[in-house]
Amino acid sequence: MATLIKNGRLVTPHGVKEEDLLIEGGVIAALGHIVPSEGDQIFDAKGKYVLPGGIETHTHLDLEVMGMHTADDFFTGSRAALLGGTTTFLDFATQFRGETMSEGFENWDKKASVGSFTDYGYHMALTEWNELLSAEMPDMVKAGVTSFKLYQAYKGALMVDDAELFLALQRAAELGVAIGVHCENGDVIDLLVQQAKAKDEKAPEYHEKVRPAVLEAEAIWRFITLATLAGANHYVVHLSTKDGLELIRRKREEGATTVIETCPQYLFLDKSKYDADGFYEKAGFVMSPPLREKEDQEALWQGLSTGDIQLVGTDHCSFNLKGQKDHGKDGFWNIPNGAPGIELRMNLLYSGGVATGKFDIERFAELTSTNAAKYFGLYPKKGCLEEGSDADIAILDPEVTWSVTHDQLHDNCDYTPYEGITLQGKISDVFLRGQHLVEDGKLTSEKPQGQFLKRDLPA
Ligand code: URP
Ligand code: ZN
Repeated sequence: MATLIKNGRLVTPHGVKEEDLLIEGGVIAALGHIVPSEGDQIFDAKGKYVLPGGIETHTHLDLEVMGMHTADDFFTGSRAALLGGTTTFLDFATQFRGETMSEGFENWDKKASVGSFTDYGYHMALTEWNELLSAEMPDMVKAGVTSFKLYQAYKGALMVDDAELFLALQRAAELGVAIGVHCENGDVIDLLVQQAKAKDEKAPEYHEKVRPAVLEAEAIWRFITLATLAGANHYVVHLSTKDGLELIRRKREEGATTVIETCPQYLFLDKSKYDADGFYEKAGFVMSPPLREKEDQEALWQGLSTGDIQLVGTDHCSFNLKGQKDHGKDGFWNIPNGAPGIELRMNLLYSGGVATGKFDIERFAELTSTNAAKYFGLYPKKGCLEEGSDADIAILDPEVTWSVTHDQLHDNCDYTPYEGITLQGKISDVFLRGQHLVEDGKLTSEKPQGQFLKRDLPA
């Protein structure tokens, strides 16, 4: 049976068109002015945007940190993603120290076996570098994992040193895979944490003070220098600062090909959140990098408008305030880092970007879907409204004005950092490979139908 989406504003790679879109066999069969055939299911999208389903580039589902698992697993995290217009996400499968990449991959497949409501793929996060891992990298490529992440932060846990990072970048250059890096100077942060402990500075706000913006910029500079020397395809994950953005622009002028991802939290929230009274009011914003200044937000919005920043992921890494974040009541260093956001990514970016006139709906589609599909080897199967592409479609009603409250969301976390924010525009309906899985904001099936995506090499 075919589905015909009528009268919508289709956001295609060739412009915005007031046309119809026909879905058959899970793919987009035709675009244009289409006369319905008998038996076609008609969806009237009049006045709404018809967008390529969102591609979320940065999640941590069912991740173990400090002996605790994130509040969201694949089931609850992907359910929230789908309801927010995301039809594909890329999670960080992790090779913990002493493990092989294959073990990391298998562990993540077990986590994913609870079912996903959206399609999904993995990046492989590496916590060390050695000959064994180097030899294994081609196996990951064969398995469809074509991007890898390393950390310059989290000393003693996830952090690699410059030599490890450089060797990984050289290997990535040989194989054509992408390396994403969490850029913060972990050595200096570790020292600042020790100094804060010695001064009895325990409250959540000190998390921000030991992770100053300049330590992100310094790490970015080092990472791009090493990646360029190695000739590797590389990107900066969750960029949070104006300084970092300016450095990347300078590096690009010298020939660097750096791709940038930022996150909604660095666009909508600022460090004044750490001035609140009470532990719980602040601990929900303990994430790395931390929230920054308003001028950083403005610079990042501008970077999205100009196209200098290409990707928007949420770094969805949810920990409950009660029972998880409060592990750090006696010292901020024990608060698990991260915050939820997966469900709001598309709505936040539309409201803050398109509804305010910062960029147009075509740039929105690029930032939420197309650029990620291209960069992470999913295009044109995903990321565009084109004949032959998967019918992954998000319908957005631009007329709705609403306020975010935690009780409207569908993840498994006990708060949202965006509580009370008023948004213009809302995702109303979502199709995954042609199936109408979200109808007027509600799930039509409680059965997860997402598939694992084997990805090509990055563009
Ligand atoms: O605070 C965060 N972002 N936690 C998740 C791990 C990471 O740094 O990406
Ligand atoms: Zn990170």
